[in-house]
Amino acid sequence: MPPSFHVRPATPDDKRPSFDVFIPAVRELSARQGAPWEPDPDEVWNNQKPFLDFLAAHAAEWWVADDDGSGKVIGYARSLERGGLFELSEFFVHPENQSAGVGRALLDKAFPNGRGEVRAIIATTDVRAQSRYYQAGTVARFPIAGLTGKPGVAAGEPLNNGIEPVAVTTDDIADLSALERSVIEFDRGNEFEWLLEHREGYLYRQGREIVGSAFLGPRGAIGPVAATHPDHTPSILDHIERRAAEREIAEVALEVPMVNEVAMRHLLGRQFKMDTFLTFLNTSRPFGQFDRFMGFSPPFVL
Ligand SMILES: CC(C)(COP(=O)(O)OP(=O)(O)OC[C@H]1O[C@@H](n2cnc3c(N)ncnc32)[C@H](O)[C@@H]1OP(=O)(O)O)[C@@H](O)C(=O)NCCC(=O)NCCS
Repeated sequence: MPPSFHVRPATPDDKRPSFDVFIPAVRELSARQGAPWEPDPDEVWNNQKPFLDFLAAHAAEWWVADDDGSGKVIGYARSLERGGLFELSEFFVHPENQSAGVGRALLDKAFPNGRGEVRAIIATTDVRAQSRYYQAGTVARFPIAGLTGKPGVAAGEPLNNGIEPVAVTTDDIADLSALERSVIEFDRGNEFEWLLEHREGYLYRQGREIVGSAFLGPRGAIGPVAATHPDHTPSILDHIERRAAEREIAEVALEVPMVNEVAMRHLLGRQFKMDTFLTFLNTSRPFGQFDRFMGFSPPFVL
């Protein structure tokens, strides 16, 4: 029977109930697509909590759907706004309640038509999601591949082309923002403060010029990574991978736009493996130079 539900603005108390929809929705989609994902929900919760807290605190919109019978949260949608870049960060309906209009009601609230100069979504290949996202004015531009590798096996050579890494602090946020803006038209502004609190960050200089940036998380999540030219990408990736090896991180993970052919070839050449579960970047218009950029990992937002 179709669920009887209502949609309401989320509160901080909805953090874990929302997450408890996210896990079964992705688990069921992964199984349906032949790439089973059987995580320990508490482990994922603990690992992702700092970023999920950030999304909850800084959401542009965050809405949940409650089942009228049980009162339980059966779906949620959340978005983030960085200047004119309006991104849907999450959109999940519990498998028992999908294909019955819950998603439509949530998306109308969390990702309203007309909002944002550029509307962007890191989207699954779920046909219901894609159908909704085309109706929401976006087009699938290119696939994004999750790549993982063991930094101990392929730790990279020291930079030898005059590119120097410089560890960044909050004093460098203006430079990080300017670089990101030059590469993808928008910058994450004071989100860099969160990144610097939770990740090791670098700017890369060639002489006096800033040519790139990269961030490494404590459990090996790499991103965002930006370069002023695709040719700088291998040196930047070598350095950040070597840092992960020095920190004895077992595995690193990156979200690579598949149009970033330099990064794709470099990482595949280092025996990194592609996750079978590809995503798409859906956007309302073409923007940014994704041949020299990798977004945040895990792939909630760019
Ligand atoms: C994506 C998701 C949130 C959508 O929520 P939902 O409640 O299932 O979606 P709705 O019932 O509101 O809408 C589904 C739409 O897909 C359409 N649809 C279903 N199968 C389709 C197909 N094969 N081709 C085209 N459209 C299709 C339906 O007709 C409906 O559109 P309509 O309302 O215009 O008729 C939900 O299915 C989900 O959690 N999926 C798994 C996780 C996921 O991929 N999330 C996206 C993260 S980016």
